[in-house]
Order: sequence, then structure tokens, then C-alpha cells
Amino acid sequence: MSIIYTEADHSITLQTRDSSYHMAVDSYGYIRHLYYGKRLEPEDLFYLYRYYDRAFSGNPRAAGTDRTYSMYAVCQEFSNTGVGDYRIPTLRMKSSDGARIADLRYVSHEIRNGKYALPGLPAVRDEDGDAQTLEVILRDEPSKLTVHLLYGVFEKKNMITRAVIYENASEKSIVLEKAGSCCLELPYGNWDLLHFHGRHNRERAPERVPVMHGVQAVGSCRGMSSHQHNPFIILCDRRATEDHGDCYGLMYLYSSNFRAEVEGEQYGSVRAVMSPGDETFCWRLQPGGQFTAPEVLMGYADGLTRLSQQYHRTIRENICRGAYHLAHRPVLINSWEAAYFDISAERILKLARQAADLGIELFVLDDGWFRGRKDDNAGLGDWEYDPEKLPEGLDSLITGIRETGMLFGIWVEPEMVNEDSDLYRAHPDWALAEPGRAPARSRNQLVLDLSREDVQDYIIGFMTRLLTEYDISYIKWDFNRSVMDVYSRLLPAEQQGEVLHRAMLGLYRVLETLTTRFPKVLFEGCSGGGGRFDAGMLYYTPQIWCSDDTDPIERLTIQKGTSFGYPLSTVGAHVSIAPNHQTGRSTPISTRAAVAATGAFGYELDLSLISAEEQEEIRRQVQQYLEDEPLIRQGLYYRLGEETEGMDAFSWLLVSENQDQALLTVVATATHGNAPLIHLRFKGLDPEALYELREEGLKRSGAALMNAGYTLPMLTGDYPAFRLHLKKVRH
Ligand code: DGJ
Repeated sequence: MSIIYTEADHSITLQTRDSSYHMAVDSYGYIRHLYYGKRLEPEDLFYLYRYYDRAFSGNPRAAGTDRTYSMYAVCQEFSNTGVGDYRIPTLRMKSSDGARIADLRYVSHEIRNGKYALPGLPAVRDEDGDAQTLEVILRDEPSKLTVHLLYGVFEKKNMITRAVIYENASEKSIVLEKAGSCCLELPYGNWDLLHFHGRHNRERAPERVPVMHGVQAVGSCRGMSSHQHNPFIILCDRRATEDHGDCYGLMYLYSSNFRAEVEGEQYGSVRAVMSPGDETFCWRLQPGGQFTAPEVLMGYADGLTRLSQQYHRTIRENICRGAYHLAHRPVLINSWEAAYFDISAERILKLARQAADLGIELFVLDDGWFRGRKDDNAGLGDWEYDPEKLPEGLDSLITGIRETGMLFGIWVEPEMVNEDSDLYRAHPDWALAEPGRAPARSRNQLVLDLSREDVQDYIIGFMTRLLTEYDISYIKWDFNRSVMDVYSRLLPAEQQGEVLHRAMLGLYRVLETLTTRFPKVLFEGCSGGGGRFDAGMLYYTPQIWCSDDTDPIERLTIQKGTSFGYPLSTVGAHVSIAPNHQTGRSTPISTRAAVAATGAFGYELDLSLISAEEQEEIRRQVQQYLEDEPLIRQGLYYRLGEETEGMDAFSWLLVSENQDQALLTVVATATHGNAPLIHLRFKGLDPEALYELREEGLKRSGAALMNAGYTLPMLTGDYPAFRLHLKKVRH
């Protein structure tokens, strides 16, 4: 049993293998948060609180004349609003009389085997059959707003999911202005906030800052989870390292506007709230209506590394789906940086033959293949091949590529339209725009209104035709602008605040339909690189193009930041040409491969432009990757940055689950004359076992490698990479 109700103190404990989450109903009917951290057996934890008369904090009516109980000074499972809890709210609502007050009290709870369902939304799956559900019902009696708090407990995975269903049990409508998915409170301690920010070509850079007094927030109002902020935050003890210290993660399974807010309040507690972004959000709950706030995947671990490993495993096994989610991902070559829009059947076939000869398994025809697509100003919406570029047709090109032995994949950007397209000429009203106002352009394109079912059906229709008529094994699903002009012609004025969430539900419906209809197709998500790299998209696309920046030195930070939450199997990473197209930097092809091979691996360059030696090196790299791939896809990942701090190097380690194999990678970002040597200690090996260090021709014990450590040879040249394979030879 991973959920335990104790009648004596009305407490509910959510138990995972290594953690406990503890809440209880107090004598005033409020559901209080008492503890989240290392595993404890259930016991009365109300002793953790002491009550004082706190000036200007107010006392709820339920407390009678008790002036020591204030909503402001207690930790709650779900914040009330308008009744003295002045911290960031989880909910903002407006009753039919205009009041913004909800005093939510416990009504009942239920413990069920299995995981609750969230129809229409991505959600962690009960893959191991060990999940349990807790549903706690709260109600505000005057407005009859009813809130269902959902918890899914994944004992073996050490993870808990959270979601909230808002229900209007009254006869009049209620407007939700903010509908949070979870509220997490840490009553005591000194905390840091670790979040992942960036921009196009520089996604998910980790930034660790102290939690301050006041509100810190990251989020997106771009209609996509965005390059600027990832919907994943970590709260960690100020002393926490990779190996030790309390660390809590909140990851959103949502791909649109979001807000992750953290508040350090006056008495020292911290509240974190994850919600769909509320700047333009507003949802009208008709009598009897419900709104489901998307799911949050919450984890606790001792140390950042363990927390990341828990997320990696859960995403890989319980979020990603389809034939490929646990399987080998084909090594691919993508035409984008090789040819951009300059596509011809001859050029593509030449690249494909060269790639196949080097052992590459999948050819991806990127942007530029369809009618009217001479550059990025036209064509989106007209998803038929361009007869000028492919005079023999797409089928003939695919046949030519399949004859090389490779699989074939293709790029699409179905949620967009160019005004210069037949689709737009036929359906100008399908784009998001307010009538009478010409919508803003970005990349010269407009965004289709996916809140409309006819638009969803159109996308399902043309994608079904594409995937049925052609021999396609892979789809790259792109999304190349942020959303503006949010207005749907099919919704009344008072529901315009629902458009973005409805559009996201529309996309999820489209992707659910297509991935169910074509379970063998590998879908890779993309949004100008990693602008929609989130766990919501990973439910449909088990890998996502991590960044348009393919420079390996830039990728070190991007991929390190990504690794805090997301497993390597989800991280699309390619070797491109030198000098790099984004930065102009030249790096050795071995370094480019060492970085790209820490993800879903591929190439993206014109193979005619490189030397015969480099081509031979690619042949070896592909073979090596195929050998290492199970370890990369499934191994336990250790960031070794704390080991090599101050050494101008990035280092990381993969260790197989059974500790039989490991792979160390170190990349130097600068080299120096007469430099000190890089020394680091391995992690996660079997201390009793003897390991062969392949590239060294040495054998050493796990204990020596983890305690005494390992000294690298002097790294020289421009941006050198060093890789070391370890294999257990004796137990
Ligand atoms: C943005 C993607 O991230 C690139 O890889 C490429 O597919 C372009 N779009 C094509 O327009």
C-alpha cells in the first residue's frame, strides 16, 4: 500500500520507496501539508507546527476565537483565496456575483488502486501496475466550487503525480482566472531555485538562485512552453550537491503557457505553484462543468543526480509511448544543414547514398520539399510535394532512399500556415486572428486555430494521407513561431480566454489520433530546436530536437541543462559541419560526435564537403554509437561537473543498471600550456568489481575508480574530447 490513511489524526501518507508525502485534515476542516522528504512511517506530524497570534494575518471563521490560527501561517495542500492566505494563489476565481473568495474545506477522500485518468491530456502511465490514486475533495460551500486534488503515487519510481479538477456544483456559472495544477509547500529551511532558461539556440541553461522573500516566477506566454523557460523547476536545499541534499522537482506535462511561481514568505516557508499561465487565461465553468488542470510530475530525492535519474526513468518508461519509446532509435541524417531549401531529387539521393554507405540508418527530408516552399516565406499548408524540386515525385525519391537500405522520414509543420498558400486562400479564417485586425507575422507565417475541430480534422486528414500513401517511418513535427493574436472566431467573447488551452487540447487530440493510428512511426518533436521541449510533448513524441544550435561547445550547456529533467533518449543531437553554421566555430569531428552521441544521435551536414578521412571517421562513429546505444538510452546518467569544477571541462558518465558497463566523456572548452591534469572520481560503479578501461588497456577496481579516482591524460588541441569505456571483467 503506497497510500495510507490514519484515522486517529486524519492524516494521509503517500509512500514511495524512498520518500514520504504527508498531509492531514485539521480540526477546522483544512487540508494541511505536513511533510515531504525522506521516507518516514506514518505518525502524527502536527507537532511540527507551533501557533502564535500573528498580527495582520487574520483568522478564518472556522477557528472561532482562536487568534493563533491563521491561513497565512500554515502550509496547505491547496491554497484558499480571499480569506487571508496572502501568498501566491493556486486558484483565482469569480463567482456569479463577482466575488473572488473561496474557502475550500475538506469534504472527503478516496484511495484507489491504479492511476487516475486525465482524458485529453498527457499523463504519466501506470506502466508497472503499482500506482495508486488519492483523490481529495474540497468545497467552498457558498459558491459550490468543488476542487478534486488528484495524486498518483508511483512507489517504485519514487514519484508522485498531481492534477486538479475544478467543478462547478452550483446553478450559476463560475469563472476560473487561474487554475493551478499543484501547490507544494516547504515549511522550513533555506532553499535554492534551480530553473532552466534560455533563448532560441540556447535552451535550458541551468540557473541556481536563492529563494528570496517575495515571488520569483518563470513561465511562458507564447502559446508554447518556450525556449525562454522550461516547465520544470527544482527546489533544493542551499547545501545540496549532485550527491546529497533535499531536492524537489516539479515538472509540467504541458506544452503551452505556464507559470512556475515560488514564494519565500515572512515566516520562512516556501510555496511553489505550477499553473497554466494566467495572463490571458480565463475559463467559464457552466453549472456542472469541469476544468482539468494539466498534470505535474513531482519528485523528491537526496541529491540532484538521483532526482534527475528518477525523472529520466519515469519519462522513458511511463511517459514516452509508441514502438520506439524503449527501442533503439535509428541513427539519422537530416537534410536541413546539408541543403536547407536547396533541395533536388538528385542532391538528396546523393546525400542518402553517401550516408547509407557510412552505416546511417534513417534519412530525414527536412523543410523545403513541398509545393511553393522556395524559402521560409511561403508554402506552409500545402502539403504536397513540389514537382519542380521532385519531378519524379516523392514516391520515387522515397523508393530511391529505401533502396539504399535506409528508412525514410519527413519534416512537417502542421500547425502553421503561410498567407501565400492555397490553404490560407481557401480558409483565411482558420488562422488565429481577431476580425478587423491583421495578425502579426513571425517567420512570415500565421498560427492555425487548433481550438477548432475542423482545423484539427484537416491536420489529421493530411497527415493520415501522407503516412498512408508514402513509406514513411519518421516524422519531424516542427513549430516555428510563438503565438500572438489569440482569438478564435468560433468562441463567444466571454470564452476568448480559453483559446490557448483549447488549442493545446486540440494539438494533443491530433497527436493522440496520429500516434495511435501509426504506432510504428517515430515522431520527433521540434520547435525551432527546443522551444517545446517538455514532458507533455514527450507523451506523443519520444524524442525532441534539442536545439538548432549544433555547435558542440554550445550544446554542452544546453544538453547539461536538459539532463536535469529529461533522459538522453529524448534529446535529438546531431553532428554538423565545421565551421559551425550557428557560431562559426571549428571543432574536431570527434568532439562533435562525443557530444551528439549523448542523445538520440544523427548527422546533419553535406557529406560531399568533408574529407575521405572524416568520412571514415563517421563510419567508425556510427559503429561505436550502435555499440554504446543501449547504455546511452537506458544507463544511469551522472553529471560530473562538481568533480571537474574550474578545469574548463564538461564531464559526464553513464553506468549501466547492472553496473557492467560505463562510459565516461570529458570535453575541454579550453586548453592551456603546462596545465594541471583533470582528475575525477567515478560514481555508481560496483566497488567489488574489476573494470577494464578499454582505451587505457588497464584494469582497476570499482572501489579505486570511485575513491582514488582517475587522472586523464593531458588534453591538447582545440576543444578535445576524451571518452573511456569501462567493462566489468570480474565480480
Ligand atoms: C527549425 C528546426 O529546428 C530546424 O531543424 C529545421 O527543421 C527548420 N525549422 C526548418 O524550417
